[in-house]
Amino acid sequence: MQLFNTVMAHAITWVPRALVQKISRRYIAGESLDDAVGRIRQLNSLGFKVTIDVLGETVSSIQQTENTADEYRRVLNAIQDHGLKASISVKPTALGLLLDTQHCEQLLGKIVTIAERHQTLVCMDMEDVSCTQKEIDLFANLASGHTNISLALQAYLQRTYQDLDSLLLTRSSLRICKGIYLEDRSHLVDKAWNDRSEINPHFMNHIARCFEMGTFVGVATHDIALIDQVIELARSRDIDKTMFEFQMLLGVCEPLQCKLLGMGFSVRIYVPYGKDWYAYSMRRMKENPQIAGYILQALMSR
Ligand code: FDA
Repeated sequence: MQLFNTVMAHAITWVPRALVQKISRRYIAGESLDDAVGRIRQLNSLGFKVTIDVLGETVSSIQQTENTADEYRRVLNAIQDHGLKASISVKPTALGLLLDTQHCEQLLGKIVTIAERHQTLVCMDMEDVSCTQKEIDLFANLASGHTNISLALQAYLQRTYQDLDSLLLTRSSLRICKGIYLEDRSHLVDKAWNDRSEINPHFMNHIARCFEMGTFVGVATHDIALIDQVIELARSRDIDKTMFEFQMLLGVCEPLQCKLLGMGFSVRIYVPYGKDWYAYSMRRMKENPQIAGYILQALMSR
């Protein structure tokens, strides 16, 4: 079955779109903001915080970037109106980072300003390596005028050591994740291209640096070995539970999400919604070690 799962993870691009949509329901709150609000209310009532992602990545027109920004404004209003325990996560390419960097900064700046007024946090997701420096610069510009913005960093990149050093000086709040994009191995930490567990020591180094510097950090992983190490490190260094949180994706490792919550840790669930579900779902499905089983289940229940 493991071999079959590996084959399916590679062959997933041939799975019909309708089937992908069916499987992706576990990873996506729905197509509309109302769908997302319903799901978030459930999660909040269980004790989870959330971060909301409006699906959509690289865009091809300024009009699309404006539409995405409008949708984020609606999200911020919904958080306020429904009293949701939620932050937002934004992919700068969806606001035109690669189309018009200045315009992207203006749009994101307006979103961050409204969010600040509502006391809502904005996390900038980190995208592929062609965006890394641009996103760090964008973050630095916005963080100089706002306190409610944080940035994701990817432990699979060698450069994250240097990036973290400069970000820690500004006491920026951060999210550390392993990294999801298919990158040239010249950018990656040793052996990360063969085995995701090779990223773990680097991930831990970054978490330890955040703890040392007293920076709030989101520990974004489902890797149980890594989570155990973070808990042990926090315990041994007497790090207060308010200085970090675990972050996980909607529909991934749900029993683990509940277990951490039960242990008294803060757990934030990344909740994506929107019409642009395909690219996001494909990444999640490729990462799912039980992917073949899900495809078979979905096929049988057609
Ligand atoms: P790893 O990939 O080693 O998986 C560990 C274990 O988790 C697997 O063995 C499996 O059991 C389980 N698992 C992981 N994914 C699964 C799935 N889809 N279905 C079922 N089980 C699964 N990346 C990025 O490049 N930029 C970003 O900004 C972000 N932001 C982000 C926010 C949050 C809240 C999370 C949780 C993740 C991200 N990521 C991200 C994605 C991240 O980089 C990474 O690709 C995934 O989290 C999977 O890596 P893990 O750390 O879970 O480890």
